[in-house]
Amino acid sequence: MVAQIFLLVICFICLKQYAKGEFQQSLAITDILPEDIKRYDKMRPPKKEGQPTIVYFHVTVMGLDSIDENSMTYVADVFFAQTWKDHRLRLPENMTQEYRLLEVDWLKNMWRPDSFFKNAKSVTFQTMTIPNHYMWLYKDKTILYMVKLTLKLSCIMNFAIYPHDTQECKLQMESLSHTTDDLIFQWDPTTPLVVDENIELPQVALIRNETADCTQVYSTGNFTCLEVVFTLKRRLVYYVYQHLYTHLHDRDHVPWMPFMSVCTVFVFMALMEYCLINIVLSDTPIPKPIAYPPKPVAGEGAAKKDPESGAAGGGGGGNPPAGSKPTMLPLADEKMEKIEKIFDEMTKNRRIVTTTRRVVRPPLDADGPWIPRQESRIILTPGIAAHPPPPPPPPVEPELPKPKLTPAQERLKRAIYIDRTSRVLFPALFASLNGIYWCVFYEYL
Ligand SMILES: *[C@@H]1O[C@H](CO)[C@@H](O)[C@H](O)[C@H]1NC(C)=O
Ligand SMILES: *[C@@H]1O[C@H](CO)[C@@H](O)[C@H](O)[C@H]1NC(C)=O
Ligand SMILES: *[C@@H]1O[C@H](CO)[C@@H](O)[C@H](O)[C@H]1NC(C)=O
Repeated sequence: MVAQIFLLVICFICLKQYAKGEFQQSLAITDILPEDIKRYDKMRPPKKEGQPTIVYFHVTVMGLDSIDENSMTYVADVFFAQTWKDHRLRLPENMTQEYRLLEVDWLKNMWRPDSFFKNAKSVTFQTMTIPNHYMWLYKDKTILYMVKLTLKLSCIMNFAIYPHDTQECKLQMESLSHTTDDLIFQWDPTTPLVVDENIELPQVALIRNETADCTQVYSTGNFTCLEVVFTLKRRLVYYVYQHLYTHLHDRDHVPWMPFMSVCTVFVFMALMEYCLINIVLSDTPIPKPIAYPPKPVAGEGAAKKDPESGAAGGGGGGNPPAGSKPTMLPLADEKMEKIEKIFDEMTKNRRIVTTTRRVVRPPLDADGPWIPRQESRIILTPGIAAHPPPPPPPPVEPELPKPKLTPAQERLKRAIYIDRTSRVLFPALFASLNGIYWCVFYEYL
């Protein structure tokens, strides 16, 4: 008996609740729009007291993927929410809940923010199993519109330090037709952006996510714009792995660009060192066919030694043809003296010259270019030190500090010096550059 009364009481309470409107009737759009429909202009933002309408944005990023360096795009799966207050609306009667779900189709008859994705190449709106969007009406006439989208977004990537690059990819939302006088987008003050912590990208790591304002000044006015900035850092380990197992040439970018460039520069420098040494060793301006000075002393000496010097070392390459064809050029006195000195030295050095060297006779007409080559070959043989010099102007400079060193020795000394310096300098430089490189890019490992 008591139990029956108790049940009746419960039923009575239930009925009372029902009568109070706990179970609401369906709404029609006319229930929320002003009674005089003419007064509601759906093209005009609900500006209260002349102030621009503020739309709050919230973005939940559920996924990031398909980062494509070739087309400079990436794909983002987002929940995109906009909240705005339209004071012109009416609230449905007896609204007891915090919010009511409205039919999304009603948006066609209401004002709604005209935001668009500025850097989107394509937007996919999912319709399975039902269209993925909804609208809420809050008690304070605030409308929340939420939509789930898959966006293919363009992202300007800079590959200057590829593969050590960090890219900033954005998701920009701008107002299409309203200037900042009418409409302003703002990030939701409480939770503007939520990025799924489980986002894992193979080739890059998401290191930062930010919200920003990108309001743009156009000739037609200022247009409000908001953006999400993802900072993506390339995973070097993945990169190396990928490139070890796939072909290197299916990409536009040169892999390991900076590193390879440094290596190439070093190879090039080694080559340049070799060239430099060669140049130093044969550092002779090509002498003009020497016309023997007509002076009695020098001329005698030269004439006497000429055939021998040619036969012995081939050092004075220009001598034999010149000797056999003594064309006299008008020489200045200074030059004459220089030439005399050359011959003096040649006479001195001739004694030490070994006779094992191959004598290459110069072609009669072209004596110039032949000289340096012959010289460098001779100098590189063990008998270097004693080799008689060709007649270059530099060695005969009067202020030569060490008269004991022949020009050839001088050149050899220089070459050896260059070589020794390079032997220390190159590896040291390479090691330090390597050190710096891997210090700078250590974090990418
Ligand atoms: C709303 O509530 C009032 C009283 O609070 C009631 O008179 C009215 O009938 C209710 N309207 C609807 C549509 O439930
Ligand atoms: C996004 O940024 C917030 C705040 O900076 C941070 O707490 C959160 O971990 C970030 N999410 C991801 C996935 O990086
Ligand atoms: C647009 O913005 C610029 C600066 O951001 C400001 O100087 C200018 O007055 C603005 N114009 C309008 C029409 O609001």
